[in-house]
Amino acid sequence: MGKAYAISFLFFTICIWSSLNFAEGRGAVKRNKFTVIGHVYCDTCRVEFETKISQPIAGATVKLECRNRSDESPTYNSPEIVTGSSGVYIIEVVGDYEDSDCEVGLVKSPRVDCNEMTEDWRKARVVLTGLDGISGNIRYANNLGFKKKKALPECKNVLTKMGYYELRDELGNEASA
Ligand SMILES: *[C@@H]1O[C@H](CO)[C@@H](O)[C@H](O)[C@H]1NC(C)=O
Repeated sequence: MGKAYAISFLFFTICIWSSLNFAEGRGAVKRNKFTVIGHVYCDTCRVEFETKISQPIAGATVKLECRNRSDESPTYNSPEIVTGSSGVYIIEVVGDYEDSDCEVGLVKSPRVDCNEMTEDWRKARVVLTGLDGISGNIRYANNLGFKKKKALPECKNVLTKMGYYELRDELGNEASA
């Protein structure tokens, strides 16, 4: 019994090990497959970052686009992808985009009370090449948020606890309370 177990364990280990080697070998021929994972939330405080009262948005639409870094021509466009119940999306990409800038962008929100986009933060950069030293084929994109039309009343409290108002005073930023 113990011996059979040891043998099958060894066999299993060899299988894993050789499939990893195989995957690595494939990377060299630029035929990578990437899984991009990210999350869409409702920015309930209109501060352009996540707080503990941000809410996941299910049914939000996002899209991944890559552009040639030198002439900006499109090199990859994913279909529109919709987030699942916890606001998470998964985009599968085949290929290597070493010479492209790739970004996930928001397309639309299913919530009429939370569908405002701000140009400079509605995109999340992802690196889709096996040649940059990042190992593994799962790439996490920064979370993307739609701004709620009207901030929740709890925001002041939550943001104060996060030290947001002190920070704002220090930096002299404007923000709505
Ligand atoms: C990107 O654009 C440059 C300049 O037009 C071109 O030489 C190069 O082949 C393009 N690369 C890709 C991956 O399309």
